[in-house]
Amino acid sequence: MISEHTAELLFEGAIAEEYEMLMRICPPAAEISQRVGKFVANWTPPYPAEQLNLLEIGCGTGITTACLLAGREDVLIESVDNATAMLSQARQNLTAALAMKRLRLIENDALSYLQEIPDASVDIVASAYTLHNFLLGYRQRVLKEVLRVLKPGGLFVNGDRYAVDDAAEHLKNTQQEVKDYFRVFSEMNRIDLLEQWIVHLFSDESEEHIMRLGPALEAMTGIGFQDIRVHFRDGVNALVSAVKS
Ligand SMILES: C[S@@+](CC[C@H](N)C(=O)[O-])C[C@H]1O[C@@H](n2cnc3c(N)ncnc32)[C@H](O)[C@@H]1O
Repeated sequence: MISEHTAELLFEGAIAEEYEMLMRICPPAAEISQRVGKFVANWTPPYPAEQLNLLEIGCGTGITTACLLAGREDVLIESVDNATAMLSQARQNLTAALAMKRLRLIENDALSYLQEIPDASVDIVASAYTLHNFLLGYRQRVLKEVLRVLKPGGLFVNGDRYAVDDAAEHLKNTQQEVKDYFRVFSEMNRIDLLEQWIVHLFSDESEEHIMRLGPALEAMTGIGFQDIRVHFRDGVNALVSAVKS
């Protein structure tokens, strides 16, 4: 049995090596990455700061990282991910930012890395499509650590898959997603990828993982985040922000 506090390695093999296929099965994902980048670009810290440090949780191949880098020049980014195959693509996709030392990629599990960070030392924590992959207890611990490491006034922004609270509507959405997976991967004759994404979807949808919007926001309130807001919602895809007071 897996402990609900375990960090899992969900991105290996074909699903990792061809991760950017996600654009085909979930077109809103790219839009959410851009929204995360724009949200950070437009954020003004409530304290004077010439440079901001940002921790990205789960950079994957660097799709959202690129949006964060493009959004503002005064930000130094550390991106943590626990999948070697994803990070090696991020290294290739983000060579300029790495060379300029605007970005550091860290291979580690998110919780272990957060636990090494001093209290109140980070301006921004950003993430996209990563927290929904976590087991519930692990996610709760990660969020507690995010609040601990943020400076007072610091920002947390997450663009992610938040399940629709109405179970019947969520089921309908998920069934449509499955149909879309079959259509896209059959057209490409990639039954191997279809299998991997369906298996992955079962993980996301399981009771130990599913991140429903209402309970997720309540959990953040319980942890102590302030000014929790949902800025955008399209089916399961949502942009959520909060601050540390
Ligand atoms: C769905 S991908 C999203 C990637 C990227 N943020 C994007 O917007 O395309 C989720 C990423 O989170 C990483 N991840 C999942 N669980 C993790 C954990 N416990 N610690 C660190 N990274 C994790 C995976 O390896 C994967 O690269």
